[in-house]
Amino acid sequence: MKPFDVYPLYSVTPERAKGSWLWDENGTRYLDLYGGHAVISIGHSHPHYVHAIKNQVEKLGFYSNAVLNPLQDQLAALLGELSGYPDYQLFMINSGAEAIENALKVASFATGRQKVIMLERAFHGRTAGAVAITDNPKIQAAINPIDHVIKIPFGDLDALENALSLKEACAFIVEGIQGVGGIYSPEAEYLQAAKSLCDRTGTVMILDEIQSGYGRTGAFFAHQHAGIKADIITIAKGMGNGFPVGGVLIGPQFTPWHGMLGTTFGGNHLACAAGIAVLEVLRDERLMLHAGYLGNYLIRRLKEIPAITDVRGRGLMIGFSLPYSSADVRKRLLMEHHIFTGSASDPNTVRLLPPLSVTKGQIDLFFEALIQVLQTTPQPA
Ligand SMILES: Cc1ncc(COP(=O)(O)O)c(C=O)c1O
Repeated sequence: MKPFDVYPLYSVTPERAKGSWLWDENGTRYLDLYGGHAVISIGHSHPHYVHAIKNQVEKLGFYSNAVLNPLQDQLAALLGELSGYPDYQLFMINSGAEAIENALKVASFATGRQKVIMLERAFHGRTAGAVAITDNPKIQAAINPIDHVIKIPFGDLDALENALSLKEACAFIVEGIQGVGGIYSPEAEYLQAAKSLCDRTGTVMILDEIQSGYGRTGAFFAHQHAGIKADIITIAKGMGNGFPVGGVLIGPQFTPWHGMLGTTFGGNHLACAAGIAVLEVLRDERLMLHAGYLGNYLIRRLKEIPAITDVRGRGLMIGFSLPYSSADVRKRLLMEHHIFTGSASDPNTVRLLPPLSVTKGQIDLFFEALIQVLQTTPQPA
């Protein structure tokens, strides 16, 4: 057997990693400004995280959700405290798409409604419900599109008001910052107005913070820069720093009943140990503050480069645009300068999603390489 060949691959084989560095099988060192797609939050192989996982798997790696698991309580309490949502409830799963599926189910159970309002350029995952509210027909199989999705333009409050006024939608879902779409932040005023419109029409506001959450933008969640509270929040990626774990933060207004949601692996002992260690490092190393500070530095320096036409994002979730496809620039950064960056669905965009512990010196190395690559990459006429 061989792997199902669905990923276009770079010919790099990372074997070990530390902080924001990766090493391949020849000992060549790479700078990770991609974080394995915004997954690495506290840095690769953080000693506290490694110790916590090793320690837990030696004691008890897994038992089902049929028994008491104090680690889930500990994780939920710490997450509530650090995120500013202490009165919310946590349901744990294993991935971002599963977080979306369960968030939609809670909203639909609570309202009895069927439709979902989504935004243009949105990405929420690839499972059935999540891909149906993802704005990319290429990744939808014939079975996926559903007729209870209302797609509206990004940032268009009138369109949102019209869609909500039908009172047919269980949820309005919005990314804290659109990630895969190319790093587009909803305006604070838009989010504030959207929240009151949702409240007025009995619609659940779901904030997808799977990519933009966990301190990446300098606040625990990107939507907190707008001073709003979401009804339901989805998390994954940075939550486990590479350990597959996701969560749904569910407001106190939602009452669970036994059997309402469920999963075999979600919230297992090992996942909780990884998740607790991530939060402890995030808190103890003040990584949110660091992400905000370094993000401002990155944005300022990117804006000084004439070849860059647009710089977007916040903290360590940054997108910048070139006037041509960024593919060659990204490839040269990787192959010649050994620096990983990310792409987006818009081909001209480069995404930067480094570990939150990346240093200013590492960012400076990136700028040296980027300036050199931009000066020597032939531009299409
Ligand atoms: C905003 C957002 N939501 C959902 C997902 C899906 O997460 P996963 O790939 O873990 O299923 C992603 C993945 O990139 C994402 O960026």
